[in-house]
Amino acid sequence: MIDLHCHLLWDMDDGADSMETTLALCEIAIRNKIQVIAATPHMTNLDMAEDFLYVRNRRLRELNTYLQSSDMPVRVCSGAEVYLDRSILEAEALEDLTLNHSRYLLCEYSLQPFDPDKALIYAEEVLDHGLVPIIAHPERYATFHRHPDVIEELKSMGAYFQVNADSLAGRRGERVGEVATSLIVDGIADFIATDAHHPVHRNNDFMRSMQSFSSKITPEILEWTTVIAPRLVLENKTLD
Ligand SMILES: [Fe+2]
Repeated sequence: MIDLHCHLLWDMDDGADSMETTLALCEIAIRNKIQVIAATPHMTNLDMAEDFLYVRNRRLRELNTYLQSSDMPVRVCSGAEVYLDRSILEAEALEDLTLNHSRYLLCEYSLQPFDPDKALIYAEEVLDHGLVPIIAHPERYATFHRHPDVIEELKSMGAYFQVNADSLAGRRGERVGEVATSLIVDGIADFIATDAHHPVHRNNDFMRSMQSFSSKITPEILEWTTVIAPRLVLENKTLD
């Protein structure tokens, strides 16, 4: 399995706070047969992108060196979870923030209510940079619950969607669970990832989450959303 969304790099955001915590997340990944993790720290201030990338790349190098020398069978590749607000309209280079240097950019919106038209404008801006937005956890945005047509429009523009495993497991409430399940079963969302932040509170114990998934999520769907489609992203290939 490939986990396209994980806050495992230490001391960068509200995810892992120490290398020890990072390694605990790596241990859980290994137990869950997660072979590749995209490190996706929150990128909330594009003015600070250069500093963010400097720290992220240093952490990535240190972590992968440690994993390799310790014979831990998991690798971590580059990424970011880019917060889409009006600052995206001024952004210059976004390429270094993409998943594994591909054309795919993991993006998030505010969890507070927002103008659905803005969601389209910001995603269009990412596309204008020649990149493909993957919208993280669409099931968590109340705005999307009220305006499901925005998801359709984003998809028709060329955006993709990633659903969180804990949403599918019902740990974010019934409504979020139902929306998450339909997005996956209806083929709107192509990726399931953990969005893990902590080994206990919000973790990447995917197999445990999976036990609570709807039976509508078949092994074929799981194979596409956690293995095949994420691999195509990391290899910078098209999904169609
Ligand atoms: Fe996240």
